[in-house]
Amino acid sequence: MFNKKKKNNEKELIIEDITDTAEDLEESGDEEKDPEESESSEEVIKAPAPGEVIIDMKGIVKRYFIGMPNELEVLHGVDIQVRKGEFVAIVGQSGSGKSTLMNVIGALDRPTLGSYNLDGVDMFKAKDEDLSAIRCKKIGFVFQTYNLVARTSALKNVELPMLYSNTRRSVRNKRAKELLKMVEMEDRMKHTPDELSGGQKQRVAIARAMANDPAIILADEPTGALDSATGRLIMDIFHRLNSEQGKTIVLITHSPELAEETQRILTLKDGLIVGERKGRGKAV
Ligand SMILES: Nc1ncnc2c1ncn2[C@@H]1O[C@H](COP(=O)(O)OP(=O)(O)OP(=O)(O)O)[C@@H](O)[C@H]1O
Ligand SMILES: [Mg+2]
Repeated sequence: MFNKKKKNNEKELIIEDITDTAEDLEESGDEEKDPEESESSEEVIKAPAPGEVIIDMKGIVKRYFIGMPNELEVLHGVDIQVRKGEFVAIVGQSGSGKSTLMNVIGALDRPTLGSYNLDGVDMFKAKDEDLSAIRCKKIGFVFQTYNLVARTSALKNVELPMLYSNTRRSVRNKRAKELLKMVEMEDRMKHTPDELSGGQKQRVAIARAMANDPAIILADEPTGALDSATGRLIMDIFHRLNSEQGKTIVLITHSPELAEETQRILTLKDGLIVGERKGRGKAV
C-alpha cells in the first residue's frame, strides 16, 4: 500500500482497494469468515490505557522524491504528542503540510526521518502488513471528498472495513446498521452515494470510519465541502464520538471556529509546528 505515487493517489489507493473489495462483498454471499483466523498482527493491536500518549512523533521529516536529483522536503521535523481521548485540531495555510502530516500519522505514508510511535508500535520498524492492520483496526479516516465507493449502498460502504478485518457477515451487517443509525442515516442505508447529499455522504463516511471501532479518527477537512449548517452537524457527531466513546480525534480544518471547539490547536507553517494552544472545547 505504501508507494511513491503523488499524495492524492494515496487516497485514491484506498478507494481502489475498497472498490476491489466491494466486489468481494457482493460476492461474499453467505460465507461466514472466522475472525479467529484473521490477523497475523493481532498482538500489535492493543488498547491503550486512558490518557496515555497514543500518537508520539518526534522530529518527523517527510521528503518526497520527485525524480532524482530533486527532492521536496514537506515536513521539517515535526513533534506531536496526542493522548488517548484528546480532540486536537491542526490548522495552517494551504500547502503547509497538513495532509502530508495526516497521511504520516495514519500510516498511509511513511515518514523519512524521526521517530513515530503509534499506540506502542514503532512505525519505523513496523512491516507493511502491520501498518495495514493498524490502518484497518486502529484508525478511521474521514476525508473532505468522502471517498465512498460509487454504485455501492451506504450499508455496504460501512460494511467494507469489516470485510477487511474478517468480521462475520451477520456481525458486520448488524454493526453497519447500528452505525448508520448513530449518524441518523438508517433510512438511507440502501441508497448509493450519488443519491445522497454531501452531508449525508459524510455521515456515511463517518459511520464507515467507525466500522472497526478504531481508537483514532483522522479527519482531513471533513466539513470543507459542506455549508456551515451541515458542517455543524458533522462536527457535532465528532464531539459525540469524542465525549461519549472516548475516541481520539485529529481534525484538520480551515475553520477557526471549528478548531476553537477542540481541546488543543496545533498550527503548522511551512512544514513545522509553530504554535500550540488550548481550544475552548465544546460541551455536548
Ligand atoms: N506526493 C507528493 N509528492 C510531491 N509533493 C507533494 C506530495 N504531496 C504533497 N506534496 C507537496 O507538499 C506540500 C504540502 O502539501 P499538503 O497537501 O500536505 O498541504 P496542506 O496543508 O494539506 O494544504 P491544503 O490546505 O491545501 O489541503 C505542497 O507543496 C505539496 O505540493
Ligand atoms: Mg490538505
